[in-house]
Amino acid sequence: MKPKLSSALPLLSLPGILLLSLLTVVLGGLAPRASADEAQTWITLGADAFATLQEDADVTRGRHPLTNYGESSDVVMTRVPTRVLADISAKIHTAHRRCGGFMAHRTLQQAQEALDRAGAADRGAPIAYILDRQAQVQQLADQVQEAPILATMASLSNDFNNRYHAHPSGTSASEWIRNRWQSYALGRSDVIVELVSHPGATSQPSVVLTIPGTTLPDEVIVLGAHLDSIAGGTSNPDFLAPGADDDASGIAVLSEVIRVTLAGDFRPQRTVSFMGYAAEEVGLVGSQAIATAYRAAGTNVVAVLQFDLAAFNGSTEDFGLLTDRTNSTLTTFVTELIDTYQPTLLWTLTACGYGCSDHASWHAQGYPTAMPTEARFGEHNQAIHTTSDTVATLNNSAAHAAKFARLGVAFAVEIGIDGGGEIFANGFEEGSTNGWSSTTR
Ligand code: BES
Ligand code: ZN
Repeated sequence: MKPKLSSALPLLSLPGILLLSLLTVVLGGLAPRASADEAQTWITLGADAFATLQEDADVTRGRHPLTNYGESSDVVMTRVPTRVLADISAKIHTAHRRCGGFMAHRTLQQAQEALDRAGAADRGAPIAYILDRQAQVQQLADQVQEAPILATMASLSNDFNNRYHAHPSGTSASEWIRNRWQSYALGRSDVIVELVSHPGATSQPSVVLTIPGTTLPDEVIVLGAHLDSIAGGTSNPDFLAPGADDDASGIAVLSEVIRVTLAGDFRPQRTVSFMGYAAEEVGLVGSQAIATAYRAAGTNVVAVLQFDLAAFNGSTEDFGLLTDRTNSTLTTFVTELIDTYQPTLLWTLTACGYGCSDHASWHAQGYPTAMPTEARFGEHNQAIHTTSDTVATLNNSAAHAAKFARLGVAFAVEIGIDGGGEIFANGFEEGSTNGWSSTTR
C-alpha cells in the first residue's frame, strides 16, 4: 500500500522537494527567526505529536507552522531546524509521555522509507499459525513458577542495578544472563548459548539462546526482551537504573520459558531463539543490529514476540497487545493463545504510537511481530526509567509476569511445532498425550 500523501503537497517527488527547497532558500529571508541556510533535519513522528507541535509556535521557532510533507498510518513526515530537535523531544515527552517520540533521518529518502514502512499493509504471515498442541502446551505451561521469575528480576535489579549499555556492569549483566541460560541448557548439546557483540555500536553484548529446529530448522521463531536499563537520560551513565520492570521482567519471562521448555525436553521442529537485546534504551541498538543481519542473511524469521514491561498490573486487562509495528495475523494468534490457555485473563489492543521497543527493529525488516505488554499504554508502570523501578514497586510479586511466561511457552510450542513429525527425543509422536508428562523434570 502506498502511503497517502498530504493534500498540501500532492506531488511529493524528489524534483518537487528540490524545487521546494529552492523556494525555501529564496524566500528564507521572510521567516523572522530562521536563517535560510541553517541545518534542517527530516523527521517522522506520530500525527498526534505533529499536531502538538503545530499548537506551539515556540518549540519550532521560526519554522511555524511545520509543513506536512506526507503522511501514512498516523505517521507524518516533516522537516525542522536541527537546533530545535532537543526542544521537540522535550515537548513530546511532556505532552505524550514518550521519550524521543520521533525518528530523525539523514536524508529525505530515508524519511520517505520510514513513512513507507509505517504505511506498509500487513504483509500477511509467512506461515499459518495453527493452534493444535493443547496437551503439550498445558503440560509445560503448568510448570511455570513465580519464584524463579521474581528471583531473576531481583538479581538483575539489585546486583546489576545499572545495566546502562555503556556501563561496565551493563556488560556483566549480559554475562550473568548468558550463564543463567547456559545452566538451563546443561545436558542439551544441541542448544547454543552465545554473547553477540555489536562492535562500533555498543560495548554491551546481546545474549542469544537457540534451540535448533529438528525438521524445519530454516524457519525461525524469536522471543525477545531487552537486557539494558536506563535512568537519568544518556548524559549520566552512572545514574542508578535498577530496571526491575523495564526490562528485567522481560528477561525473567524469557528465562522462565527457557527453564520450563528445556526441562520438559522441548525439541521444536522450527528453530526457536531467545534473545536478550543490548542497548534498547538508546535506540534499539542490539535488536537493530541483529534484525538487519538476519535480513541480510535472508533468514526466514516466521514469528517474533517481544516482552517489554511484564510485571506491573496497571490496567483492568491483563495484556495490552500493541497494534503498531506489529503483524495483525500474529497478534490475533496471540489473542487465541491467551483465550485458550489462560481463559480467565483479559487482553486489549493498545498502541505506543512510535517504535517503542525491539519489535520495531524486526518490523522494520519486514518480519511479523507481536508485543504483549503489562497494561494499556499510559497505564504502564510510571516508575520506569527512574531509580524507583525496583521489585518493591512491583510489590515483590511476579504474579503478573507469570502470565507472560505461560503465554511465551504457548507461543514457542504452538509455532515451534508444525505437526506431522516426531518431536521428542524419546520418540513420542506429536499429539500423543503422554510424551510431555513423562519428560518433565
Ligand atoms: N519499555 C519501554 C517502552 C514502553 C513504554 C513499552 C511504555 C510499553 C509502555 C522502552 O524500554 C523504552 O523506553 N523505549 C524508548 C524508545 C526507544 C527507541 C529508545 C521510549 O519509550 O522512549
Ligand atoms: Zn523497555
